[in-house]
Amino acid sequence: MTTVARPVLVVANWKMHTTPLEASDLAVAIAAATSDDAIGRVICPPFVALAAVAAAVAGTGVEVGAQNVHDRPFGAHTGEISAPMLRGLASWCIVGHSERRRDQAETDDVIGRKLERCLESGLRPILCVGERLAEREAGLAEVTVRDQLKGASSALTGKGELGQAGLVVAYEPVWAIGTGRTARGVDAAVMAEAIRDALDALGWPDAAAIPVLYGGSVTSSTMAEFIAEPSIDGALVGGASLKVDEMAGIVARAALTARARVAQDPVG
Ligand code: 13P
Repeated sequence: MTTVARPVLVVANWKMHTTPLEASDLAVAIAAATSDDAIGRVICPPFVALAAVAAAVAGTGVEVGAQNVHDRPFGAHTGEISAPMLRGLASWCIVGHSERRRDQAETDDVIGRKLERCLESGLRPILCVGERLAEREAGLAEVTVRDQLKGASSALTGKGELGQAGLVVAYEPVWAIGTGRTARGVDAAVMAEAIRDALDALGWPDAAAIPVLYGGSVTSSTMAEFIAEPSIDGALVGGASLKVDEMAGIVARAALTARARVAQDPVG
């Protein structure tokens, strides 16, 4: 794999927070406080707030993502949301978040089909992978993440579609999510490299160009440690993304690095 400049991204995952009205106000405030075209900014509100947030951020450069999508394009699945329904509302979609793997028992097969649905509907997937604490302590962090990537890739493998997925991967160690405990930047960087190596081995074209974000208790104070690592291309932010000041600090720090990277590698 050759080294290439990758875009820097900050993605807000609002999880099960905000009513549509609250989401609209928060999105307006965040868009205004983070105005910077050096990086990509994405807000992923709950489904019911997608339309409100899409309207609120129109013209600001902030993009909108869904937090999930069903693995079938349509059908008798009461209460579910399919990828075609998201057209016009979202351009990104989080897939395989560990909270869904845990709460909805999502398997890598299901997650792979979700990637396929995203691809069919032109949604850019943010595929979440990450190990549990016991797996890290047993020295199985890389193996766990490799298996997750393999399972999720299986629906696309052999269909010549891997390169068109516009994939972003978020490395989110389960033990760091919502705990206030973060991975060390150097450890997250090792995992980001392992993720790109695994994608390359799985046949993803241009794996070196696939952005890898870190997620897990990122705040304006911890962002620097992660974005200082050349293999990490931004953050998937949970709790702190509901706070305007925190988002302003996180985006400002990420934008600083994005500019420095472009200055180092202007043609990349
Ligand atoms: P926290 O930032 O709240 O730990 O959540 C991380 C996360 O799960 C983002 O998807």
